[in-house]
Amino acid sequence: MSAENAVAVTVTDTVAVAVVTGAASGIGRATALRLAADGFHVAMMDLDAAGLAATGELVQDAGGRARAFPVDLCDPLAVGSVTREIAVTVGAPELLVNVAGIGVAATVLETSDEDWNRVLAVNLTGPFLTTRAILPLMLDRGTGVIVNIASVAGQVGIPKRAAYCASKAGLVGLTKAVAVDHGHEGIRSVAICPGTVETEWIGKILANAPDPAAARAAMSARQLDGRMGTPEEIAALVAFLAGPDGRFVNGTALIADGGMTAA
Ligand SMILES: NC(=O)c1ccc[n+]([C@@H]2O[C@H](COP(=O)([O-])OP(=O)(O)OC[C@H]3O[C@@H](n4cnc5c(N)ncnc54)[C@H](O)[C@@H]3O)[C@@H](O)[C@H]2O)c1
Repeated sequence: MSAENAVAVTVTDTVAVAVVTGAASGIGRATALRLAADGFHVAMMDLDAAGLAATGELVQDAGGRARAFPVDLCDPLAVGSVTREIAVTVGAPELLVNVAGIGVAATVLETSDEDWNRVLAVNLTGPFLTTRAILPLMLDRGTGVIVNIASVAGQVGIPKRAAYCASKAGLVGLTKAVAVDHGHEGIRSVAICPGTVETEWIGKILANAPDPAAARAAMSARQLDGRMGTPEEIAALVAFLAGPDGRFVNGTALIADGGMTAA
């Protein structure tokens, strides 16, 4: 890290620090809960301050430690200042999990400039900004793991998800680039590509469908065992990658989709 960017890092105890974005809901909330249960002190970033507070209470009720840092992950200055706050008040992160994301249902012809820019900003620029801010702290320690929640949409085309597919394929590319550039410096960078996971996001899509029950049945049938994944199943993969059992996994994308893309 250059001298002008140097951050005074507080090391208060030996508890490992994890940063989880998108922790106010769904996969991010489940990840914060799982990592706190595994002993991490979790710094949680999200736009949704009330959702973060609710996750914080769940973590605390389960006997874990988490702190909320409300922030728009598309804002470079805000991401930089929150990272400095985390380093000083919680400690230098050894794990970064980029979970926050949004989607727009549209083909390329239906996608407005505004939607394209917003999806790319949250799903790709956000992880770039957090990685660029937090990686120097990991390099100072000589170790660190970055897990990016991409999607099967980063591996295959999904109908009417043009911007989303592009953003998630880009995130897989960023994941590999970070591994190649910094793997020899003790950094692992891995993407997880979930299929359909039952979260608040999917709940909203189903609620807005003309026939929610039929839409649920169709979404469930995409997986080989006829059910959607759970946020906890994705969080368990994050925990595996973060821990010693995952230490030989780097610069790749793990698909967790119940076999959705096997055919
Ligand atoms: N649910 C699925 O089926 C599924 C499948 C594949 C991939 N994913 C990916 O998993 C991730 C989490 O999805 P989820 O289903 O838990 O969604 P969710 O909507 O429940 O949670 C997403 C969170 O991201 C936060 N967020 C959005 N924009 C933000 C911004 N600019 N700054 C800070 N926070 C912001 C939201 O406030 C929300 O808390 C996303 O990246 C999504 O693309 C989800």
